[in-house]
Amino acid sequence: MRDLFDKIRENRGPLGKHAKESHGYFTFPKLEGDISNRMIFRGKERLVWSLNNYLGLANHPEVRKADADAAAQYGFAQPMGARMMSGNSNFHEQLEAGLSELVKKEDTILCNFGYQAMVSAIDCLVDRHDVIVYDAESHACIIDGVRLHMGKRFVYPHNDIANLEKQLERATKLVEGTNGSILVLTEGVFGMSGNQGKLKEIVELKKKFTFRLFVDDAHGCGTMGPTGGGTGEAQGCQDGIDIYFGTFAKSFALIGGYISSTEDVVEYLRYNMRSQIFAKSLPLPLVVGLLKRLELMNKHPELRQQLWNVTNALQSGLREAGFNIGTTSSPVTPVYLNGSIPEATNLILDLRENYNIFCSMVVYPVIPKGQIILRLIPTAVHTLDDVKYTVDAFSAIRNKLVSGQYQSEKIAAF
Ligand SMILES: Cc1ncc(COP(=O)(O)O)c(C=O)c1O
Repeated sequence: MRDLFDKIRENRGPLGKHAKESHGYFTFPKLEGDISNRMIFRGKERLVWSLNNYLGLANHPEVRKADADAAAQYGFAQPMGARMMSGNSNFHEQLEAGLSELVKKEDTILCNFGYQAMVSAIDCLVDRHDVIVYDAESHACIIDGVRLHMGKRFVYPHNDIANLEKQLERATKLVEGTNGSILVLTEGVFGMSGNQGKLKEIVELKKKFTFRLFVDDAHGCGTMGPTGGGTGEAQGCQDGIDIYFGTFAKSFALIGGYISSTEDVVEYLRYNMRSQIFAKSLPLPLVVGLLKRLELMNKHPELRQQLWNVTNALQSGLREAGFNIGTTSSPVTPVYLNGSIPEATNLILDLRENYNIFCSMVVYPVIPKGQIILRLIPTAVHTLDDVKYTVDAFSAIRNKLVSGQYQSEKIAAF
């Protein structure tokens, strides 16, 4: 037997073991100043491509004013308690109604955090007689929700609809024996690759199988579809999504999440979802600030148009410069490169310190050894000049990477 703290001291975890070298620079960096395309990192202005402020609402003057006014008027304590007990308000209900309209569902429940909402909703919806079928590349909140599930779960390779069909055949046989149900889980826009889930094809499978579809559209809400209603709207199959999840941490540039569905399902969630029954509701200034964001989203489709102008310019610019950006069909823009972790480290240092570009990097153990992903998130506040500068800088750093320059360079102290 050994002391728990000794174990923790010896095994820092896959990311934590690099904390000493990376903390404050590669991990836990501090971006300062107003949220925009240019922010301060370590005292210098950088061009930032790593925030999910898709529509540029974070620093919109009307949003800043609404947030400040609501904070002054109501304070952050209101309302106290969980929604069910004492934490409800007209504003909460008004926001739920507005979100239902945005995503074209009957009703909506607000949730305190996106991640926690997904975990808790999965836990609430299924029991040990039911089977979950889910996409292998789903976000951690889906994976962790599935981990809580007491019944069977079947995974299908990312977007492999033929395999999903096989898993549905297996699941159908099982639930016939248990008198259970089947829940299919996927993302609308996959946050790493930018791929859209094949929602239309999944919905088509309802003709052959009996299941309900739950979609995490964290990256799709506000960015996809003619009205920003999400990936189902973009693919013309929003009706086929039975339960829709969105977060306020991206297009809405705030915190929290929501789940939309039929009236009876949302009522069931209100009365059974443990993360909401046993936790304080969203503070009023956040809810009032969210109402303002929703109003602006609806009133200003040009924000989404500008996001897509920047997205299209960035993605076509990178492709024309010979970069592999995979199969993204959303604003999320991954740039796939090959190199070791030390090379990736040098490359990011060069990019940040000499080109003043700040973007996120993904390496092993999140992806296989030898691969590097630089992940760019375009927003409505980026400009076409930002795009041109970035494509040129990326071409320069790729040349250095390919010619082995990052192998020999010493990692600069930071
Ligand atoms: C696909 C996806 N789902 C859920 C979440 C969690 O949302 P939140 O940040 O609101 O907890 C995220 C956020 O990173 C996400 O990318």
